[in-house]
Parts: sequence; C-alpha cells; structure tokens
Amino acid sequence: MASKFTKLLEPLTIGPLTLRNRVAMAALTRSRSVPTNVPNDINLEYYVQRARGGAGLITTEGTLICQQGTEWQNAPGIWNQDQVSAWKRITDAVHAEGGVIFNQIWHLGRASHPDAPEQKASGMPVYAPSDIAARGGKFRFLPGHPGYVTPVAIEDPRILIDLYKQAAINAKEAGFDGVELHGANGYLVHQFLDSTSNKRTDAYGGSIENRARFGLEILKELVSIWGSKRVAVRLSPAGGYNDMGMPLQENIDTFRYFISQADLLDLGYISLIRHIPAMDPEFDGNHRATKHDVLKTYRPCIKKSALLLNGDLTPEEANQLIVAKEIDAAVFGTLWIGHPDLAKRIEQDIPLDTKLDLKTLYGGGAQIPYEQQKKGYTDYPAARL
Ligand code: PHB
Repeated sequence: MASKFTKLLEPLTIGPLTLRNRVAMAALTRSRSVPTNVPNDINLEYYVQRARGGAGLITTEGTLICQQGTEWQNAPGIWNQDQVSAWKRITDAVHAEGGVIFNQIWHLGRASHPDAPEQKASGMPVYAPSDIAARGGKFRFLPGHPGYVTPVAIEDPRILIDLYKQAAINAKEAGFDGVELHGANGYLVHQFLDSTSNKRTDAYGGSIENRARFGLEILKELVSIWGSKRVAVRLSPAGGYNDMGMPLQENIDTFRYFISQADLLDLGYISLIRHIPAMDPEFDGNHRATKHDVLKTYRPCIKKSALLLNGDLTPEEANQLIVAKEIDAAVFGTLWIGHPDLAKRIEQDIPLDTKLDLKTLYGGGAQIPYEQQKKGYTDYPAARL
C-alpha cells in the first residue's frame, strides 16, 4: 500500500549514515535507569522496541556526562565503564534492528539540586556560568517545593568542556553512531547562551560571541572525536523551560549567530525545538518563552547540516514541511512514548490512538520495584500488523 507520507518515509543520508526514514525519536527523559545511572535490561527493551518500530533515528534520553550536574538519580550516564558496557548492549541491539542511534549528552548546570542523590554523592557544588538561580524549580523526586538554588559560577569552563569531550569518547566506545549535544531547554549550554543566566565578564560571557563560545568549543571537541557528520546539537531558541529567554531581538541575534557558527562545522544535524506550551510552564502568573517562529527565523542559518524540527508535529505537517524542503526530518517525542512502532504505523496509516499515562512518564524512582518500572515504559503495545 502506498503511504500518503511518502517524503517522511524517504531515507536520509547524513554523511556516512543512512537513516531509513525521516521519523526520528527525540531524547525523552524516562528515568528508568534504576538503581543508579547505568542502563539496564528494561532500557534495552525500550530502545529495541522503538528500533523494531522503524525509527529512522533514535536519540537517547539525556545522558549525564558526569555524576555532578544531575537532577535525576535514574537518568543514565556515560562517564564510567559500567555505563559504557551497558550502552554497548543497547547500541548493538538497535543496530541489529536496522536502527541508527545517537547519544544525547547532558549536563544540567543550575537546574541540578544539591539534595539530588547523585549530585550529593559527587561531593561537588551545583555549577553554572554565573551565580544566578533559575526562578521556579521542580524536582520530581524531592519532597515539597525546594526550588532552584543559587549555583556556584564555574571558574574555568574548560573543565566542563573536557567532560563533554570524555563523554563523547565514551559514547564512541559504546558503539553509538554519533552524539547530540543537549543545548536546549535551559540546561548548561543554554545557560551560557542566555544573557539572563550568564553574566560572566571573561571570554565566556558578555557579547554574543562570548556567550556562544562554550557550546561551540564543545562542538569542536566533539567533531575532533567523531568527525563532523556524526555530531549534532539540539536547541530550543524560544526558551521557556527552566527559566530561559531573552528579549526578542537579542534572542534572535544570539541564536542566529550560534546556529550559523554550528552550521559552519558541517554538523550531521541541527535539531530545533519550536515553541510549545508544554515546554513553557507558567510561574508567578507568567510564561517565560520568547515566542517567535523558530523554523522561519533560523532556517536561513542552516546551509550545510540537516535541519530537524521538533514540537507537537503531526505526521501530516512533518511530511508537508519535508515536501516544501523546509526541514530534512521530523523529531517526534511523546508520540514515540505511546507508540513503540510509530514509524511502522505511519507507513501503514494505522491510527496513533494510544492514550498516554502521564503518571508513569518519569518512572517512579529507585523505590519502585524493578518489574513495575516497565509500566508506561515498555508495555505500550505495537499495533498488530
Ligand atoms: C524533563 O525531564 O523535564 C526534561 C529533561 C530534558 C529536557 C527537557 C525536559 O530537555
């Protein structure tokens, strides 16, 4: 049967990689690496299901580059050998299903909390570009509403850049096809970019060029390990989440510069998240995002890298955008949670009708028995074909 989503289902070549279609899976925090930070058998099953379900590209959930700088005790890491070996089982299994898998590397910066178990165990403070607390603060496993803390301004950002580099070396050993730098959603790289969280007076703060330096230096290190086409970056220029956002013109100038410079590195892809209400929570009666048309504003800055778009896309809209040559591939997030076979369903025009159980999105913490972690994770059924 011919699909009405012809373009979305066309393969995409990215340097040495061939994606079998343009239905990509977003990094999704699922917090199931119990007991602590090492991918386990249910994580393996989850990724295999989605590779079997036809994903053209899987990006892993945010994967911590070090023990310090985490909010979640059950997010996986990529800083030690146990984690590398555990990820290797997953990448091998995804490859056996014909999938391509990038590791999204992550540091939370000021969105971490001193009482987060792994942060505590690291014996280090919460680091950020400047000692400015984010407003608001939600910590899913800490009781009450502790709020964000005032972080310690990292004296030498190169220390953190080196950790990203080591994570990229580890990801290579773990058999990934590439790495995606998490530069979005108010986490560390974004905190350097945004003038409301970065008040540094050294080479990493002040001008747009200086605020962009941290992320661009990381990207250059990643390229030195992987080669350019196996490196990607994810950005959310509209801000919102984790108290991010600059005045409109400054925001546009900052992201146009960063995206243009990243594109000059000839990356595999640049993944843009457009404004969506779910990533723009309200606090103190206000929304924080700098709303603008992300695709239209930054499309002209991307000439060499593939452009991936994310944010409440439907397959219909994604297909149209590819037909119009506005994007190269579409990144779906929540649709992949409830439909492990999303790409196959799109191919065969099977309804995307699974209802999400919001209570089980983020696991339940290490106190939930292992078997129960599967609920709302690996037990969403594939359609009977
Ligand atoms: C989250 O867990 O809420 C989360 C994590 C990483 C993101 C966005 C949201 O990039």
